[in-house]
Formats: sequence, C-alpha cells, structure tokens
Amino acid sequence: MDFKVADLSLADYGRTEITLAEHEMPGLMAMRERYGAEKPLAGARIAGSLHMTVQTAVLIETLVDLGAEVRWASCNIFSTQDHAAAAVVVGRPETGGTVDAPAGVPVFAWKGESLEEYWWCTQQILDWADAEPNMILDDGGDATLLVHLGVEAEKKGHAPDPATAGSAEQRVIFDVLARSLETDTARWSRVANSVKGVTEETTTGVLRLYDMMREGSLLFPAINVNDSVTKSKFDNKYGCRHSLIDGINRGTDVLIGGKVAVVAGYGDVGKGCAESLRGQGARVIVTEIDPICALQAAMDGYQVTTLEEALPTADIIVTATGNKAVVTVDHMRAMKHQAIVANIGHFDNEIDMAGLEAEGVATRKNVKPQVDVWTFNEGAGAGTSIIVLSEGRLMNLGNATGHPSFVMSNSFTNQVLAQIELFVRTEDYPVGVYVLPKHLDEEVARLHLSALGVKLTTLSDEQASYLGVPVSGPYKSDQYRY
Ligand code: NAI
Repeated sequence: MDFKVADLSLADYGRTEITLAEHEMPGLMAMRERYGAEKPLAGARIAGSLHMTVQTAVLIETLVDLGAEVRWASCNIFSTQDHAAAAVVVGRPETGGTVDAPAGVPVFAWKGESLEEYWWCTQQILDWADAEPNMILDDGGDATLLVHLGVEAEKKGHAPDPATAGSAEQRVIFDVLARSLETDTARWSRVANSVKGVTEETTTGVLRLYDMMREGSLLFPAINVNDSVTKSKFDNKYGCRHSLIDGINRGTDVLIGGKVAVVAGYGDVGKGCAESLRGQGARVIVTEIDPICALQAAMDGYQVTTLEEALPTADIIVTATGNKAVVTVDHMRAMKHQAIVANIGHFDNEIDMAGLEAEGVATRKNVKPQVDVWTFNEGAGAGTSIIVLSEGRLMNLGNATGHPSFVMSNSFTNQVLAQIELFVRTEDYPVGVYVLPKHLDEEVARLHLSALGVKLTTLSDEQASYLGVPVSGPYKSDQYRY
C-alpha cells in the first residue's frame, strides 16, 4: 500500500481518539448500521480531499464499510492531525494492520506540508495505478479544480504559462500540469471521464462549482453538501462557535474577555464566530457588505461598522467571508500593537499574506508552529507588531483541531448520503449542481436527536393536513431558511 504520513507510530493514539469520536458521531454510525451489509458503495473508488482529522477518519472508515475503496489527502497544509492519518493508514484492529504492515487506507497528508507537497498529495489521491477514481469527495474544490485544469491543458496541448500565475500557489499548480503533460497527455481526461460525480463540503468549493456550471465548463455532476441545512447551519455556525476560540486560545492564550474583536462577514461562519467571542466577554464588532446580514448582526446586538473604523480599537480581527483581500497590508499597518489577526474562511487570500510577506514590508518572528509575530519595518505602523495565526489559513484547523465530532457527524452523514446518491443513481444526475432532498436533510437531524435527549413532538393527522405536510415530513418548503 502506498501512503505518506508523518509518523505511523502515532497510530495507537489516533485509534483511541477515533474510537472516542465514533461514539460522538451517531449519524455516521447509523450509516454503517443501515448500509454496512448492503454495501451501496461497492465499486466506488473515492478520491477524498478533506482535512485529515480524527472526525474525517470516522468518515473514511464509514465509506470503506459501505464498500468503497478510498485514497485520501487533506485540503489544507496545516489541518492534518498526524495521529489520525497514521491510524487510518495502519487500519482498524480487525484488519490486522500494524505499523510494519499497514492494512488500512492510503493517506497522503501531514501537518505542515509545503505547497509543492500539498499538490503532490492531491495528485496521489487521483492516481489509482491500474484504474481511475470514479468519485471525488472534496472540501474547497482543489481536487475538482486540478482535474478541470488538467483537462483544459490537455485540450490546449500545453499547461498555462507560469508567468500568468496570480500567486505562488498557482505557479505550483501550473508546474504540476506541465509535468503531467510531459508524461501523459490524456491523464486528466481519463480521470474526468471516469468520475461519476463530486460531493463538495464547503461554501467556497460550492461557489467554484456554480461558477463552472454557469460557464458550462463543469465536467461531472456535483452535490452541494454545504447547503444541506444540517451542514451549513450547524458545522459552519456551531462548529466555528466551538473551534474559533479554541484556535485563538491555543495559538495565543490571550484573555478574550473585555477585548474588542472584529468579525468580518456575518454569514453562517461569522455568526458562530461572533457568538463565541461574545460568549467569552469580548465586545464584538461585525463588518458586512450585505445589508441583510448587516441588519441581522445589528439586531443580534453587535456594532456593525467598517474595518477601517473598527481597527483603532480592535484587539482581535477574524475574517470569515470566503472573499479575497478583506484585510490588506494597509489595514494591518493601522492595527494596534500585538493585535491578533486570523482567518477562518477556506482560503488564505482573505488576509493579504502575500503583501505582508513581500520583501522589506515586515519582519517575521516565529513563536511556535502556526503563530508568527510580524513587525512592520518602516512607513505606517513602523515598529508595531501583529500576531498572525496559521499564516492566514484557516486557523481553527491550523491552531486547533477543527470542529468537534458531533457537529461533523451531521456534515459527514450528508457526505455519505451524497456519495451514495451520485454513485448509485448516477443517471438521475445529469451534469449540474444539486442539493440533497429535504427528507434526507431531516433524516440527518433525526439521527442526532436521541444522543442529546431531544424528544420530538409528532404531528397529528389533523395538524398535518392543516399545514399541508406529511406526518413524516418533509416539514418545510425549499424556500424556508431556518
Ligand atoms: P457565507 O456566504 O454564509 O458568509 C460570508 C459572509 O461574508 C456573507 O454574508 C458576505 O456578505 C460577507 N462578506 C463578503 N465579502 C465581505 C467583505 N469584504 N467584508 C465583510 N463581509 C463580507 O459563507 P460561510 O458559510 O459563512 O463561509 C465563509 C467561509 O468559511 C467560506 O470560505 C467557507 O468555505 C469557510 N468555512 C470554513 C469553515 C472552517 O471550519 N474554518 C467551516 C465552514 C465554512
């Protein structure tokens, strides 16, 4: 078995945490129970690109129980939990796998990859030696992007010119494409033809998919897992409510109470972040571009203003927009001494890290992994320092361990259902982007109620006909916003 992880000797520790997590992931365990014998994913070769954490280990092993073969990489250079990766490679006790003879799933992920290593890992999950992958499970869309760029390059007969790359990361991707074209001029087309579909985990990846669908460049169907209600209204909100302050605490251990914290973006993630900071006693300011979200923030009791106005008093600045260039170098120069700057959105372009890292702008002192102090050299803000978490990449996974198991059980149960849908009912999904039907969304929620001691009220027949809904659901129209 080929794989590349940091240290297989961490497997026992990983297995113990995976076993604890299983108890907290009732949705995934119910999938194993329900579909374990039937094996609806038999024949599926899933290329997975999603943070290689303990929770993801439970997802991977659920997919395997349902019959799939799996290869896995992380979707972020800092998010892998090395003990989880090791345990997945060694395999469950019943596989008889050991550190010397692993018998689990090929994983290509470790905490602290370089960009070159990251894209090498992404290539490994799409490389199945004598077969092609036929499903993608993506988070942020990097695996999907690589296949699409590869097909485009193969059609043109050449990779994009490195001189046209907009970032260091794009240069790395263009280089990957150039090298793959040198050895095989049809690799990515074969992969694209074989892939039945992709299930996408996050807001930013979903945006990319809808863009490709509009442009007509989408090559295979996609299920937008993010917009299952039991994903975005839970993971994005309650998950970040938990893991944002975890990242700040582990990264800096600065007392949050009494501080002024700015949250840029009041979508699902921003709502969770603002609530967690307020819960710690921070005075929270929100910035927004959308009048509806701005009004929501105001009515939730937050001050809403621009970043420029907020900066002179801000101690903690968190970006949660999924947008680019939200915090610029000029913003950073205007920050208070030792202000904490962090991003919880998917990509590292919300904060202008490239600008901060540019020659001569500021001097970096690494405090510990994923925590840097940057001191401005000259010009505005000269001599002041800011603390940047996870080099501007998602800090809840870089500085902490991401969302806890229970909330990820909701997200990943949607992932499993979406994989089954696309794999088993491929012909029902012509190329396009879909969400799971509402009855499955409600089912995911239902699977998590008893663990929390929730007692659900049952509609009477009379009430059901008065509302015009079946007694067993779905209970809301597709327009309902929760
Ligand atoms: P969303 O679309 O619900 O919210 C983003 C909000 O930011 C919107 O309300 C938008 O109007 C606002 N916004 C856009 N540009 C802005 C600007 N320049 N200034 C201020 N506000 C601005 O998206 P969601 O679901 O909240 O996700 C946000 C990001 O977080 C995405 O990149 C998503 O992929 C990522 N994400 C990260 C997670 C994590 O664990 N770190 C978990 C889930 C999502």
